[in-house]
Amino acid sequence: MTIEVGILGATGMVGQQFIALLANHPWFKVAWLGASERSAGKAYRDAAAWRLPNPLADEVARMKVDEATPGRAPKLVFSGLDSSVAGEIEGAFAQAGHVIVSNSRNYRMEADVPLLIPEVNADHLALLETQASARGWKGRIVTNPNCVVVVYAMALAPLRQFGLKTSIITTLQAISGAGYPGVASWDILANVIPFIGGGEEEKIETETNKILGAIKNGAVENHPLTISAAVTRVPVHNGHTGSISVSLEQRPDAAAVVAAWNSFRGKPQDLGLPSAPAQPIVYLTEPNRPQPALDANRDGGMTVTIGRLRRCPVLDYKFVALGHNTIRGAAGAAVLNAELMHSEGMLD
Ligand SMILES: NC(=O)c1ccc[n+]([C@@H]2O[C@H](COP(=O)([O-])OP(=O)(O)OC[C@H]3O[C@@H](n4cnc5c(N)ncnc54)[C@H](OP(=O)(O)O)[C@@H]3O)[C@@H](O)[C@H]2O)c1
Repeated sequence: MTIEVGILGATGMVGQQFIALLANHPWFKVAWLGASERSAGKAYRDAAAWRLPNPLADEVARMKVDEATPGRAPKLVFSGLDSSVAGEIEGAFAQAGHVIVSNSRNYRMEADVPLLIPEVNADHLALLETQASARGWKGRIVTNPNCVVVVYAMALAPLRQFGLKTSIITTLQAISGAGYPGVASWDILANVIPFIGGGEEEKIETETNKILGAIKNGAVENHPLTISAAVTRVPVHNGHTGSISVSLEQRPDAAAVVAAWNSFRGKPQDLGLPSAPAQPIVYLTEPNRPQPALDANRDGGMTVTIGRLRRCPVLDYKFVALGHNTIRGAAGAAVLNAELMHSEGMLD
């Protein structure tokens, strides 16, 4: 069985990760590429500045990039579009009958759009029951979270059982998170920039609550956790790190917290989805881990790595969490979402 897929924003950083991740996918095959009018009509190899270490397959390199308009793409379309255009283009594709699995922020916080991490809130797919009819769409939109929110929400999800109350996160985010060419080398080399545009801190403070929330009467009731986020851009290629503090109602001992992370499993593991890491969260006991250079690629970049759990004198605990921003935080997250939808019969 092969399911043909399209990629919107195929020439960008996230689009390239889609192409790399789908190169040998057992279910999905790239059949259509869309980008801006700057790229349309060109062979993919001429339109994209390929930035990944994996070689670009000849078959894709020769494919012609299409305009980002509905009509010629397969039903399932992954999107790594720039958020300045994603709202309008993804909406047009959904209206025309495509299932859009998007990385962009535009639809994430809409009440009828699932904001998915399959291990954490697979049940939020129930929002799709009313989405198409309420919007007059023939297709649907599902989203994955902001790249640092994936890491943060996965680290927090196993702690819900202990009564999550408040949390503070300071991020150290990789340059690949800004697309290509992204931040000028003059600005980022040997430097730390205490700002990321596009409302990054607000995304962390809102998307996390939706993801950790529960479905009640067909809608998401946000988790009441209070979050304070501060973001920085650092000279790292790949891998977003978060330095995190939490307060927990039940004040578990440290061994219980580590056990909750290491034993955490979700629907992708139960279903054996192709992109599911066997152990979605790995806790390292070494005192100087996790590090982006050593840990971002764990299990194909789909695992979140945590370390340095210790008492926090302000909240209860503090720790460090890390994940690959363009794989678990973007393209890999979307591929896992589509695998979940397929296994639930939602792509038929
Ligand atoms: N990088 C990450 O770690 C990350 C993680 C999670 C989410 N995201 C989100 O994913 C999206 C893509 O990010 P990125 O880092 O891959 O950005 P990027 O490298 O700048 O790529 C943007 C893509 O959008 C296309 N595009 C721009 N304007 C367009 C237009 N008017 N019509 C059609 N296509 C247009 C570009 O095509 P051309 O090449 O033809 O201009 C390119 O393919 C963003 O919404 C971002 O916030 C990124």
